[in-house]
Amino acid sequence: MTDLADSPAVRRLSDWNRSRLESLADDHETPLYVMDLDRVKENYARFSAAFPDAHVMYAAKAHTGKAVLEAVLEVGGTIECAAWGELQRAIDAGADPNELQYTAVNPPDRDLDYAAELGADNPGLTVTIGATDTLERLEERGYDGRIAIRINPGIGTGHHEKVATGADAKFGIPYERVPEVADRVREAFDGDLVGIHAHAGSGVLTDDLEDHCRAIERVGEMARRVGDEDLEFVDVGGGYGVPYREDEEPLDLERTAEMVRDAVGDLEAQLKLEPGRYIVADAGLILTEVNTIKEAPDTTVVGVDASLSTLIRPAMFGSYHPMLNVSAPDRETLEATVGGPVCTSADVFAHDRPIARPERGDVLAIGNAGSYGYELANQFHSQPRPAEIALEDGEARVARRRETLADVTRLEQ
Ligand SMILES: Cc1ncc(COP(=O)(O)O)c(C=O)c1O
Repeated sequence: MTDLADSPAVRRLSDWNRSRLESLADDHETPLYVMDLDRVKENYARFSAAFPDAHVMYAAKAHTGKAVLEAVLEVGGTIECAAWGELQRAIDAGADPNELQYTAVNPPDRDLDYAAELGADNPGLTVTIGATDTLERLEERGYDGRIAIRINPGIGTGHHEKVATGADAKFGIPYERVPEVADRVREAFDGDLVGIHAHAGSGVLTDDLEDHCRAIERVGEMARRVGDEDLEFVDVGGGYGVPYREDEEPLDLERTAEMVRDAVGDLEAQLKLEPGRYIVADAGLILTEVNTIKEAPDTTVVGVDASLSTLIRPAMFGSYHPMLNVSAPDRETLEATVGGPVCTSADVFAHDRPIARPERGDVLAIGNAGSYGYELANQFHSQPRPAEIALEDGEARVARRRETLADVTRLEQ
C-alpha cells in the first residue's frame, strides 16, 4: 500500500532534489528524461483514494513505458489502451488481458485483428466502440466478447481545442443514436454490452470542472436511458489536469470526486475513470543542457539540446512547462527565450520566461514532462531519442537507453 501521508497533491520543479538531477545529467548526458516511479504510484494511489468505490484505470497513452506500466500494476492499477501496441505493451508489463480495456478510435484492421484474437482467449477484455462500423468489423472477426459504447456527450473541455474530444464528431456515437446502438449490441450481437464510456477532454483544472461535469451529467443520463442496471460500468474517461504554471493550484480531488459523483447521478453500474496525465505528469521531467546564449535586441536567446522532438507539447498546443536552472537557481533572473536545435520557430519551450541567468553548460529542468513527453518524442532532424532514467526506492536505473544514430537508420533498406 502506497503511503499517502507525505505525498503532496502537487509536485513543483523546486521540490525535486537538485543535486541528484545534476548528477543524473552528468552520468547520463542530456537531453534526459527522468521518471520518478514512486511519484507515479503515489499519484495513482491518491487519485484512487478520492474515488473509493470507483474503478480507476491508467490511460496508458500518457506514457506507455514498461517501467511506468509496471509501477501502475504494482499498486493494483488496471490499464486503458488506445491501440494494439499499447495492449501488447501492457501485457508485456504484466497486465492481465482480462482486465484491459481497449478504446478503439477509427481502429486500423491490424488493431481489430489483435483485439479479436486477444478477446477469444481472454473473455474479460473490453472493447469500447465509437462507431457502428467498429462493431461490424469486430463481428466479422468473430469477436463475441465485452463491448462498451463510447458516447459523444456534445460537450468538450480541457486546456486546448485539440484535446476537447467530447464535442468532436470524430469521437463516440452521436448522443441521440446511443439507445439504438445499445439495442443493437444487446439484440443482434453475440457478446455483452457492459459499459457506457465518454472522455470529454484533457487538462481539466478547477475552472474547467463545471464543464467537465456537464459532460459527465450527460453520460449518467444516457446510462440511465439505456438501463444502467444492466451495465457493469459507466466510464467517464480521464482528463484530470495538473498545474503547469507555478501559480496554478492542483485539483482538489475530494471536491472533484464529489462533483463527478453528483454529475453522474445515481447509478446501479460502477463508476470508472481513466486518468492518464494526472498519474504521470509531475512524476517526470527533462534535463537539458544550455549550448548557446545570444543577446538579441528584444530578448536573450538560450539554446538548449532538447527540442520539440523531445517535448512537443509547447509547439503543438502552445503549452506552458515550468523551467528551472538546476545548475544555478540563485543567479539573478533574466527573461529568456529558450529553444532547441530544430529549424522551426515552433521549437521554443518558452518566450520571455524569467529564469536564473543561464550560462553555457548549465543544466535546465523542464517540468511536468512525464505525460505526453517521451510518448510523443520523435527523431526529427535525425535526432536519436534521449534515454530515460527511472527513480524508484532511492535508486536510479536506465529504463530506456539513449538511441544511437544506428537506431535512427536501423529500418532503412
Ligand atoms: C479515451 C481517453 N481516455 C483517457 C484519456 C486520458 O486523458 P488525460 O491524460 O488527460 O487524463 C484520453 C486522452 O486523450 C482519452 O482519449
